[in-house]
Amino acid sequence: CGIVGYLGSNGAYEILIQGLKRLEYRGYDSAGVALVTADGSLNVHKSRGKVSNLEQTAAAGCTAGSIGIAHTRWATHGEPNDINAHPHVSQSGDIALVHNGTIENYAVLKKVLEEHGYTFRSETDTEVLVQLVDYVRSTTPDCSLAEAVREALLQVEGAYAVAVVEKGDPDTLVVARKSSPLVIGVGDGETFIASDATPIIGYTDKVIYLKNNEMAVIRRGEPLSIFEIDSHTPSKISIKQLKLSLAQLEKGGYDTFMLKEIFEQPTTLRDCLRGRITGDCSRVTLSGVELNKDRFLQAERITLVACGTSWHAALIGKRLIQDFCQIPVEVEYASEFRYGNPVLNDRDIVIAISQSGETADTLAAIQLAKDKGAFVYGVCNVVGASIPRATDSGTYIHVGPEIGVASTKAFTGQVTVLTLLALAVGQLRGVIDSSTVQSVATALNAMPGTIEETLKCNDAVQKLSMFFTYAHNFIYLGRGYNYPTALEGALKLKEISYIHAEGYPAAEMKHGPIALIDQEMPSVIIAPSDSLYDKIISNVQQVKSRGGAVVAIVSKGNTAMKDIANFCIEIPDVPECLTPLVASIPLQLLAYYIAVNKGKNVDQPRNLAKSVTVE
Ligand code: G6P
Repeated sequence: CGIVGYLGSNGAYEILIQGLKRLEYRGYDSAGVALVTADGSLNVHKSRGKVSNLEQTAAAGCTAGSIGIAHTRWATHGEPNDINAHPHVSQSGDIALVHNGTIENYAVLKKVLEEHGYTFRSETDTEVLVQLVDYVRSTTPDCSLAEAVREALLQVEGAYAVAVVEKGDPDTLVVARKSSPLVIGVGDGETFIASDATPIIGYTDKVIYLKNNEMAVIRRGEPLSIFEIDSHTPSKISIKQLKLSLAQLEKGGYDTFMLKEIFEQPTTLRDCLRGRITGDCSRVTLSGVELNKDRFLQAERITLVACGTSWHAALIGKRLIQDFCQIPVEVEYASEFRYGNPVLNDRDIVIAISQSGETADTLAAIQLAKDKGAFVYGVCNVVGASIPRATDSGTYIHVGPEIGVASTKAFTGQVTVLTLLALAVGQLRGVIDSSTVQSVATALNAMPGTIEETLKCNDAVQKLSMFFTYAHNFIYLGRGYNYPTALEGALKLKEISYIHAEGYPAAEMKHGPIALIDQEMPSVIIAPSDSLYDKIISNVQQVKSRGGAVVAIVSKGNTAMKDIANFCIEIPDVPECLTPLVASIPLQLLAYYIAVNKGKNVDQPRNLAKSVTVE
């Protein structure tokens, strides 16, 4: 979910709507806005579906006011409909609240409130919170809105970022956070609040990242007040400068953000690599590794934790680190790791990989690893997000904002950083020979150009996508470094085309999934000319002999596969450990074009959110 708020001298409605559109990647099941007019009336508009639906609904009502809050929702409690949409308003009709997160003890709180005569309209945990604020406000003498919010939050277990306004008070906006992120934009006579900085860009470059367990009271004409929720202790206000530009958030002539982001990869990888490969490609330097040499020298094990696409990057990272650093590596879904009672000590390094830097499960895994004494390293994209702030050290992938919900450039950025990390740590530990560093670093340094070359397969992939628009199932096969590539290719297709797709280690297929293969079940086989090429050929034959169509991703110049596969897409020849980077490109495009052929919304696929800030 995403929240936005505004208090200033301009019309709040337009600012809030534009902010919601920029936050839609965090969820688009429903959207809503609450505004307080200069004479104190509170107007709330909400609607199921995208922000554009909300605009239609709101057009019929009053959108005046220079203070307001707004929300775009990714449903957790209650189906996505108008009633469950935020903002939620208290029974008295006085208080409106938006919330990102989950209130775990909402059932208990609801019961108590019901005993005090409160009735509930929605199925959400958020409505419980707004009624609780209302209850505190109305039963405590001389209680300000801020104090009522604070008292209510002290009763809450769970995660939240909240923004609250009140009927009759066009001058006060109250916000608070615990676990879920919240940014305050400090303008000239106006203040913005948002789940991340994107809605604020273009208005001000001065931001304050609210810390965990802090709340802020924004009052017209008064200095901003920030304090700890528990103790009321005033916090030190630290204003940071934003480095994002509006151009980075726009489509730049492409039909969709996803296509733009796929084609941006030569540039984003150049940004990701900048300054990290030096000395004629003989040295790889990551400051996070340099600054923590001892930890990396003493490490006895590395555990990679992540979710979704980032988890696939982690699987590739495991191979890279094992090959170049000779340290045992484990890969865990963050959601499993956090409840798996992991055995860790101070010789453990936990590497958390996350595009957004906000994924709730990954954040919790980090906290657990830190509590158990491990050294926690982050590989993130969004600068200043919660994960880079929670980790001991880390490396940014620097690929710029990724807006398309299906991750593309962030995945290649993550794999690139993990390759750099494996080379840097291997060098530090003295377990990698210089000729390997030289050859991999040289090819990695040339990767922006190599990806540009790879993208020339666009037209061929678009053409072949036509043959598969109506497929109901797909299987993606790969081995070694490209088993994770197969998983990621299948995930991309699932996410945006809604075709069932499974990724599998090619050789394992004969132990089960081969039973699925018939004329209706196409396979995508990732078979670059690497050490496992001869092995995978026989896996392809097994599919072919059962009548399934085969799309093969092969290295340039491979003619043998043309006789076996129905379609071959060539990728440039690169060292084996770098093949996932190039092989991913045609797979991203294949998923993209199949989804477009089916008329799907590739940037905002159904039921998904880009940043999952709930468990
Ligand atoms: C969501 C997104 C995925 C992403 C995953 C992990 O499910 O839709 O694309 O891979 O979260 O996100 P993170 O920001 O931690 O990489």
